[in-house]
Amino acid sequence: MMKLHVNGSERDVDAPPDMPLLWVLRDLMNLTGTKFGCGIAQCGACTVHIDGAPLRACVTPVSAVAGKKITTIEGLSADGSHPVQKAWAELDVVQCGYCQSGQIMSAVALLAKVPTPSDTDIDQALSGNICRCGTYPRIRAAVHHAAKLGKG
Ligand code: FES
Ligand code: FES
Repeated sequence: MMKLHVNGSERDVDAPPDMPLLWVLRDLMNLTGTKFGCGIAQCGACTVHIDGAPLRACVTPVSAVAGKKITTIEGLSADGSHPVQKAWAELDVVQCGYCQSGQIMSAVALLAKVPTPSDTDIDQALSGNICRCGTYPRIRAAVHHAAKLGKG
């Protein structure tokens, strides 16, 4: 049994230490907002935060994050009211949606470090998050919008 700190609560999980965090979240905790895309750290769909920093859950053994603060898309807000979630909704960013929780988690981590990011900051911070649907221009606009909402 292992204690994990997920989205503000401490949870006991019965998982092998080498089980990827992605599967612990999805299969053992029913937190299915975090997606499986490639499984080899190449697409960003599985991005979560560990102590506020973005991390690929598909290649992270759960034992590596015991005792750290894990935040998933479900932990941003209970009702979609986080400024980044609001900006995504207001600008209608999503197409198929598969990549978007990872995009949002990378955007939240960027804005925590750089409250008013440039286009270059956004492109660099989100370069590891692949979108098959090509929503990149709307993602960029939504990050700028979220920066304004976060201040308002
Ligand atoms: S599923 Fe983790 S990076 Fe693609
Ligand atoms: S919205 Fe479809 S993969 Fe990004």
